[in-house]
Amino acid sequence: MSGLDTDQPRRVRATEFLPVTEQAAISSARWLGRGDDKSADQAAVDAMRVALNKLPISGTVVIGEGQKDEAPELYVGEELGTGGMECEIAVDPVEGTDLVARGDSEAIAICAIGEPDGFLAAPDVVYMDKIAVGATAKGRIDINASITDNLQMVARCYGRQVREITAIVLDRPRHADLIEEIRSAGARIRLIPDGDITASLSAAVRGTGDHIYVGKGGTTEGVITAAALECLGGEIQAKMWVRGEEDLEQMRRFGMDKPEQVYRTRDLAPGARYVLATGITDGNLLKGVRFFADGARTHSLVMDMVTHTVRFIDTVHLLSPNLIREIRL
Ligand code: FBP
Repeated sequence: MSGLDTDQPRRVRATEFLPVTEQAAISSARWLGRGDDKSADQAAVDAMRVALNKLPISGTVVIGEGQKDEAPELYVGEELGTGGMECEIAVDPVEGTDLVARGDSEAIAICAIGEPDGFLAAPDVVYMDKIAVGATAKGRIDINASITDNLQMVARCYGRQVREITAIVLDRPRHADLIEEIRSAGARIRLIPDGDITASLSAAVRGTGDHIYVGKGGTTEGVITAAALECLGGEIQAKMWVRGEEDLEQMRRFGMDKPEQVYRTRDLAPGARYVLATGITDGNLLKGVRFFADGARTHSLVMDMVTHTVRFIDTVHLLSPNLIREIRL
């Protein structure tokens, strides 16, 4: 016996998924600054779906554009691929649609691939309170502690003063008290207009100048963040933000009956395998799409739990292969 089970579909490698976010980013980036968030999103959705459908996978969307009656493409439950490796797919074709519409920085296309039951099913209409850090402060944060305590702990992990730590917070009225407390604690703050997945990734990678993401944002974004942080060695803790009976009802539909429950990285993304992200607009972590005559250049992150690699990939896409051109460093 060779021990090889030839009936098993072959494992599709992480880098084979790269066109999924690259093509989404290129398509969305064409809408940069045109004030049309819907078209910027739709272009990415279409491109992502086409790319996923070319892969030898039997994939099911578990986080996408909404339920089947809300979204014609990339809806929750949609099956994608030409058949093969079974996987769950969690996508945010454009994280920061308004950022693209305004030509603002830090928009990305992101896609997470997991094994069956790899991602927590959660309502996308209820927000989550989240706190996220990189490997340096992993295991040392506590969502139930005050932000002051968490900042002091993160500073200690980095061997710094609190004033040398940068916290990222979504600029929303709901965060007024949080921002006030961070300022009183003495930390630096980067207030962002959108994009808490991107913010959490930035906090989890050394050298970006960001150290902690904190605040209330989308739940599905929390799940995708968890998948990425699992690959990067970071940590997210999250709690559902219950604003009333309607939120509780939504949560019960997903079997979430403990409003106080703390969801940790592995609770949110227990079976994450790969996460791919491509910059749409320039950011701390990834460069945005740059266009040239009949071509584009993308900058991506491929996070791979199977081979334990994190790749930064700079790709030149020659959209018209017949043209002979110089490639720039
Ligand atoms: P979209 O790209 O889907 O618009 O999401 C952007 C985002 O900023 C997320 O990163 C964040 O989790 C959520 O919106 C916050 O929601 P809200 O804008 O309602 O405060």
